[in-house]
Order: sequence, then structure tokens, then C-alpha cells
Amino acid sequence: MCGIVGYVGHQNAETILLDSLRRLEYRGYDSAGIATLFLANTSCQTAIRRAAGKLENLREFVKQNPCQGTIGIGHTRWATHGKPTEKNAHPHQSDPITLVHNGIIENHLQLREQLLSAGHQLKSDTDTEIVAHLIAAEKKNNQVNFITATRAAVQQIRGAFALAILDENEQDTIVCIKQACPLIIGIGQHENFIASDFTAILPYTNQFIILEEGDMAVVKKDTIHITNFDGVEQNRPIKILDWSPSVAEKNGFSHFMLKEIFEQPLAITDTLRERLSFIENKVVLDGVHLDKLKHINRICIVACGSSFHAGMIAKYQMEDLVKLPVELDLASEFRYRPVLVDAHTLVIGISQSGETADTLAALRHAQNKGALLLSICNTLESSIPRLCHHSAGTLYTRAGPEISVASTKAFITQIVALHLLGLGLAQQRDQITKNDIIEHMNALLQLPTAIETVLQEDSLIQKIAQHFVSSTDMLFLGRGALYPIALEGALKMKELSYVHAEGYAAGEMKHGAIALIDEKMPVIVLAAQSHVYEKVVSNLEEVKTRGGCIVGILDENDDALKSRCEFSIHIPVVPKSILAPVATVPLQLFAYHLANAKGLDVDQPRNLAKSVTVE
Ligand code: G6P
Repeated sequence: MCGIVGYVGHQNAETILLDSLRRLEYRGYDSAGIATLFLANTSCQTAIRRAAGKLENLREFVKQNPCQGTIGIGHTRWATHGKPTEKNAHPHQSDPITLVHNGIIENHLQLREQLLSAGHQLKSDTDTEIVAHLIAAEKKNNQVNFITATRAAVQQIRGAFALAILDENEQDTIVCIKQACPLIIGIGQHENFIASDFTAILPYTNQFIILEEGDMAVVKKDTIHITNFDGVEQNRPIKILDWSPSVAEKNGFSHFMLKEIFEQPLAITDTLRERLSFIENKVVLDGVHLDKLKHINRICIVACGSSFHAGMIAKYQMEDLVKLPVELDLASEFRYRPVLVDAHTLVIGISQSGETADTLAALRHAQNKGALLLSICNTLESSIPRLCHHSAGTLYTRAGPEISVASTKAFITQIVALHLLGLGLAQQRDQITKNDIIEHMNALLQLPTAIETVLQEDSLIQKIAQHFVSSTDMLFLGRGALYPIALEGALKMKELSYVHAEGYAAGEMKHGAIALIDEKMPVIVLAAQSHVYEKVVSNLEEVKTRGGCIVGILDENDDALKSRCEFSIHIPVVPKSILAPVATVPLQLFAYHLANAKGLDVDQPRNLAKSVTVE
């Protein structure tokens, strides 16, 4: 939800800012802008370039109107306050202050009124612009320096804010503020970088400082000085990240989404690495403090979007494995309910980004009630794992950076990590035999190859998708562990193709959705072998009787059912415990190819953002 970058050093700032923003565009893409400081004759000046629409528009504009300077800040926006126009694009300015912001200033209306009555002229409809005015006013009215003025202004604002700020009079300095939105500093040789996440600046450095809540950093090309908002020094360690810069590039694929779908076998292999011990016949959960979980009597799972669907699969699987009640909640609902959790409840938050505001708030809500917290997360050192650090810890998925807005490899690895967690809890509670553990571990080992097999159906799925470019509605049906996959398939279709799609538990169809079925309604039926196979076959017949056009996701030998479907996609026969992730892949490819055939922007669907750091 908005990406911010900054650079101070000896290179051309404009080039580095635009390049870094390109890798952050997944966070928002309805407008973008940069600002640099440069010397004209003997005085320092600020150059601001902004454009509505995608980053490409800004790039074109900057080509015609270059910015000089070796210090600057940049922003890619997902609009919250104010329409996505050039006027509302960041950076915002109140002479001599220029800044970019990720987050929401919650008391902006009250501050706006104060500033207007003090004679300030506000040019945008954003909550951000007022911060620039507050700092400029502090400087002018109290005759204080940039840092003191910023500190005083920050004390007046409430909400979530990561800010990168320039002062035209301090040509060597970027001030950064971090409160409830991510912000990191990349360390270079006589240069430093600022970004909302690692991927933006990976080509430039692998050494990072992760700012913590309430940090203010004064960043120059050779120094980084971190204090809290009251000016007390803070020590933050330098972390080394061993990701290759190429993980944030398309590497020959037409879209990040397709690349990430094809990376799934590797992402799963990485997520399983060193976590399956066939010597001791057990799973090894690095980062999870299992000893703290001995006395839990209940598990709650909270998440949003695709992560919620991964949680739904886990609910079914964990109850079976761990023999404890498992509840599942949308984080946005859980956070506002007087939930009944206590010190014997384990609350698991699932999040690719580790920054989703609702999931973070749901976990804090549970923490306040004394519950134990654990996260399944893909982003090292992000806010959610840090919150869980002193509780039950984090089991990281190792999908690598996921750039496409629609989650694919992160979702699949979440299912895998939750499967591992279920096994770990089951073995700790003596709820699983050695043989069963070995069976599960062997099943997990088969998963990458099974997914490779499904990926070979890519061209067939592309052809099938082309038949549905004019469809306006779709139904996805599944039972048991394939019901969450039906929901995920429908979500992917909505996100990417703007087709109205619904996921339904196949057995529930007769209570409503069946009324929608006619010959224009494609129905995607997840009818692979499972303990409810025969029931799904009956549901498929009910659709057929009413003229629905069926796309069956079928077991590879299932010729009988194939003859009942208009189109069919086969998946390999796999153990029941890994059926859900295998059945997900054809639906990812189906949604991808359909959106692509419609000429839509697959990696950056309208109105969405990858990291949702607002409520
Ligand atoms: C956004 C993304 C989804 C993601 C959801 C939860 O809506 O577009 O792909 O599933 O947020 O994100 P998280 O990072 O918490 O998994």
C-alpha cells in the first residue's frame, strides 16, 4: 500500500529512484513521483516530478524533464485520501520541506483545519500534505532546525506513517520516520538507500537496517543516526540478506505471476529444506518455540485474502492431526470482536507480507488477551514475525519475494508450512504415530514433482481459458479440502479477470447458487479423488442437468468423469494430504491465461495492492 524509496550518495538519484520504484510498484500503482535536491548556481533547489497512472507515465515525464542531484525520494501510490490525480501524487511540499508517505494520518482533518486557519494553503486532498506543512511551520515559527522541527511535527500526528523527508536547506540529509508501516535503510559505500521493502534496493546492497516502531533516522551518504521520536539514541543491527537481485526480475517470463506459478516446485522444496528429518522421523520447526505450546487447548487462525484460504485448509488438516479445536477468522473481523482467547489459546497469523494491517491488529488484539502468537510469514523481519518473536515465534515460508499482486507461490508455501506446523504440534502432543508422520513427510516430498506435472498442462489450460473470455460469471465448486481451493480459484478469477466468480462448497450449491446455473454459466468443479468424490460427482451431475458448462479438475485416470465435462484438466493422483495444493495450480493458470487473453494487466490488477497496510 504505497511504496517509498530514497537515495543519498554520489550517483544520479533520479535513475536509482525510478529503478527502485519499478520493483515497488506492486504496492500501489495509481500515481507516482520523485523529488531531488540539487545545486543551481550557489543555492539548493528542489525538483519535483509527478504523474498520474502507472510508473511508466512518470518515467516518460522525467525523460522530458530530467532531475539533477544525488539525493532524492520517490513514491508509488495506492490512493486512500484524494483521487489518483497528479495533484494528489506524492511528493508533497511546503517550502522548504518535501516528503513522501506510506500509511494514513488519522487526525488529518483536525490538523487540516488548524493549518487552514493559520493561513496555510493546501494544494492536495491528501492526508500527507499536512505533515509537510507542520514541519515547515515548526521551522518557521520556532526557528528550529530540520530535525527538531520534524520531531515536533511527528508528535502531533496519529496513525500509521512511514515518511522520507527532504529539506531544501539540508542538501545532504533524508529524515526517515517509521510508525506502523515498514521502512528499511540499505547501506552502501558512500551512499545509502531507503525503501519500503528489501526487493526495491536489492541490486544495490544486501546490507540493511530495519527500522522499528517509533524510529527516526537521519540518513546521509556516510552516516545513519537513529533515535526515537524523543531524540534518544537507538541501536539497530545491520542484517545481511542473501537473496539474489534476479529474484525480483521476470527472468524471461511475460509476467511475474507466471514466473511465480512456475517457481512453486522450488519454493516448496525450499520451504521443506531441513524441516523433514527421516533420521528421527519427525518434522523440525525452526523458529517455532514449541516448548511454549505444551498447554494449549485451542487454536485460532487469522488472515486475509489468499492467506485466509490457506488458513481454511489448515483448519481442516490441523483439527485432524492435532485433535484440538481450530477456529478460523478473517483478521478484519477478529480484531473488532471480544474474542474468547486466553493463555491456553494459540493464535496463528498467516501473512505473505507480514505487514497486513488487519492481521497485525488481530494478533495484537489476541496478545492483549494473553494468547500465544505464532506467524506463518514470507517476509523476514516484517512486523508480524517481530510481534510473534517473543511469543511462539514464526515458521517462515521460503517462497522468495512475490511481486505479482495475486498470491501464488506464497499461498502454496503457506499450505506447506501449515502442514508442517500441524505435524509438529501433533508429534509434540503424541497424537500421531511414527508411520503416519513418515507417510505425511513422504507426501510432502512428492509435492514439487506433482506440481511440475500440473505445470505441463499449461498450454492446454491456456486453450481452455480462451473459451471463456466473454464470460461474466463463474462458479467454482469443491468439497472438503478442495472447498477452500474453490474459494481461492474464484478469488484469483475476480482479482485478475474482473469476472464475477463465486467459490462454493459443492454440497451447499443446492441452497442457492444452483439458481444461477444456465448454459452461459461456466462451472469449475474440483472433482479429484477424495473421500467425498462420489458426492462431488453428484453435484457435477446436478450442474449438467441444468445446462451448466463444466470445466472439471479431475484425477488423471478419471476417464468416466472426463466424458461428463465440456473441458477437463487432469492432475496426478497424490496422497489426500497434499491434494489441495496440487489442485490449486490449474486454477492459478486458468485465471492467469483468461486475464491475459482479455488483455488485462495481470501483475497489477485495478484497485488492488499487494501489501495492505491500511484498514
Ligand atoms: C492483498 C493481496 C493478496 C493477499 C492479501 C493478504 O489483498 O492482494 O494477494 O492474499 O493481501 O496479504 P498477506 O501479505 O497478509 O498475505
